[in-house]
Amino acid sequence: MFDFRPADDCPKPEAYRQLHDAAEALTAGEPDAVANMANIAALLWDFLPDMNWAGFYRMVDGELVLGPFMGRPACIRIPLGKGVCGVAAQDGATQLVEDVHAFPGHIACDAVTNSELVVPVLRNGDVVAVIDLDSPSKARFDSEDRAGIERLAEIISQRI
Ligand code: SME
Repeated sequence: MFDFRPADDCPKPEAYRQLHDAAEALTAGEPDAVANMANIAALLWDFLPDMNWAGFYRMVDGELVLGPFMGRPACIRIPLGKGVCGVAAQDGATQLVEDVHAFPGHIACDAVTNSELVVPVLRNGDVVAVIDLDSPSKARFDSEDRAGIERLAEIISQRI
C-alpha cells in the first residue's frame, strides 16, 4: 500500500518536498512511461487540494495528445500554440494563469476551470509532455506551486 498524502497543515514547500520524494520513489527503476505518468497524476491529485483536473499531455508527432490524468474526460488533441497547454508546449515555458477566461484561445475542456498551471517537461532540450493542473478557484496556483511542479518535471523527465 502507498500512502504519500501530506498532513492537512503541512506548509506548501514541505508538501512539495514530499511530493518530489514520492515521485522519485514511485518511478525509480520503472521504464514504462504510461505507468509512471499515471502514478504521478495520482500523486498530484492526492497532494494538491482544490483542483478539478491534473495530468499529462504528451508531444506526439508535433501535437499534444491526452495522457494519464485524474479528473473528468478531457480534450484529446491540442495543436501547438492553442490554449494554455499548447502555448506552454510551443514556447517550452511554464504558463501560470490566474484567470483562464482572460487567456486568449483558452480551451475550455471543463467549464468549472478558472485557473491553470501548465509546466513543460523537457528532455534533452525538447518538450516531451506538459503537466496540466486545473482549478475551479481563480488564482489557485502561485510561485511556490510553479517552482514545485517545475522541479517535479525535472525529476520525471527521463522517466516518461
Ligand atoms: N485548459 C487547457 C486544455 C486542457 S484541459 O483543461 C484538461 C488549455 O487551455 O490548454
